[in-house]
Amino acid sequence: MPLSVVILAAGQGTRMRSSLPKVLHPMAGRPLLSHVVDVAESLDPVSVHVVYGFGGDQVREAMADRDLVWHEQAEQLGTGHAVAQAMGAVTEDSQVLVLYGDVPLLRSETLADLVALGGDDGLGVLTVNVSEPTGYGRIVRDNQDQIVQIVEDKDATEVEKLIHEVNTGVVVCPAKHLNEWIGKLKNTNSQGEYYLTDIVELAVWDKVPVRALAAADEAETLGVNDKVHLSEAETEYRHRTAMSLMRSGVTLADPKRLDVRGTLTCGADVFIDVNAVFIGNVKLGDGVHIGPNVVVIDSQIEDGTEVFANCVIEKSHFGPNCLIGPFARVRPETYLGSTVKLGNFVEVKKSNIAKGSKVNHLTYVGDSTLGESVNVGAGTITCNYDGANKHRTTIGDNVFVGSGVQFIAPVEIGDGATIGAGSIISKPAPADKLTLSRGKQVTIDGWKRPVKKPKS
Ligand code: UD1
Ligand code: CA
Repeated sequence: MPLSVVILAAGQGTRMRSSLPKVLHPMAGRPLLSHVVDVAESLDPVSVHVVYGFGGDQVREAMADRDLVWHEQAEQLGTGHAVAQAMGAVTEDSQVLVLYGDVPLLRSETLADLVALGGDDGLGVLTVNVSEPTGYGRIVRDNQDQIVQIVEDKDATEVEKLIHEVNTGVVVCPAKHLNEWIGKLKNTNSQGEYYLTDIVELAVWDKVPVRALAAADEAETLGVNDKVHLSEAETEYRHRTAMSLMRSGVTLADPKRLDVRGTLTCGADVFIDVNAVFIGNVKLGDGVHIGPNVVVIDSQIEDGTEVFANCVIEKSHFGPNCLIGPFARVRPETYLGSTVKLGNFVEVKKSNIAKGSKVNHLTYVGDSTLGESVNVGAGTITCNYDGANKHRTTIGDNVFVGSGVQFIAPVEIGDGATIGAGSIISKPAPADKLTLSRGKQVTIDGWKRPVKKPKS
């Protein structure tokens, strides 16, 4: 039977105390809702429906690149009413899986098990045993241990309140049953809402089997209602990411101090020190070493390269066996060949630096091309910006640049050239020659240092 997924996301999320709609708050750098859509898509459904309400335009815009069917629920009249908004567009002969946009940690395997358990003929309910059930709908079973009802916390008797098995909110059942039952829901309860959970009693009445799957792990069913829950979800996600990296062979100095906000792919024998942050798509080759407090955004680092403490690297590509930092800032569109060295307080932007070149101290290289085996002395600046336009600096192979040089771009330096320390270079420097430009050093005889006037 084909599968349709309906994600409920119309709730306001008042307890987040934020102008951002709840389902757009990020976990691991992406909206909660986008994690839910991911797990929905992993089940290979025919369609994924989202019921939205508060902040609707913002939510749709943020998810514009996803293949979703949107349904507005103008008034939040309950979870049953929310599902009803989508049912008209759901394939009649499919099984319908209901998820919440604010429950971002459910595993694909758990949901696949529930869908299989529900089957062509039954209602599947994902439950969980919790130590503190207050606020949840309780799972009421008969003396044969069959589920007969879900009672909301606000409607529960004192005896029912003692039940620790609760409804996670995730249910699955054939569309034909769901359509029928949703039409019969009433809002005669303490909250005046149309509860989706009332379909359990309707199923029992219609002799449709109700089958429960208890989630193995409470963390998986965590719903985000406030910023405390959000940080709990983030912690759990971080833990899962760290576990899977370590199982794939990555050494983490401390799994609690690693943030991956996107996708991190690692080769063999990668070491990652504490407080590293990986954002977007990051690829690390075999034997890469990442020092403490390093931030890497959308970049690729090839085999054997070491990044020392406190570097920030964005949208760049490093060849193998480079040595980077500590304290290097590498800005977008930087391409390093193999065995390049970037030292401390070096900023590189939109530049190509070929094999074996070294830029070791206090330097800015922007809009530049450096050949192989170039040595750039301390305090060198490529002056790439004239206040209106950016210009390129091109430096050939085996060039030696003394300390404190300023290249006034556009400028070109021939292979094997030597540039004297302290030079301001604004014209081409020929290959294999020494070029320098320096003010003449003078000494003033008879000059006296000024002295402080005595106070009168
Ligand atoms: C619901 C369940 C409860 C379960 C709990 C698990 C019902 C009646 N109760 O309770 O059994 O233990 O979740 O967290 O189903 N939503 C809409 N439109 C609405 C109402 C809700 O889209 O009109 C969405 C919310 O955005 C949220 C989800 O449905 O994502 C659940 O709503 P919420 O109000 O949190 O339900 P609970 O009362 O916590
Ligand atoms: Ca809730």
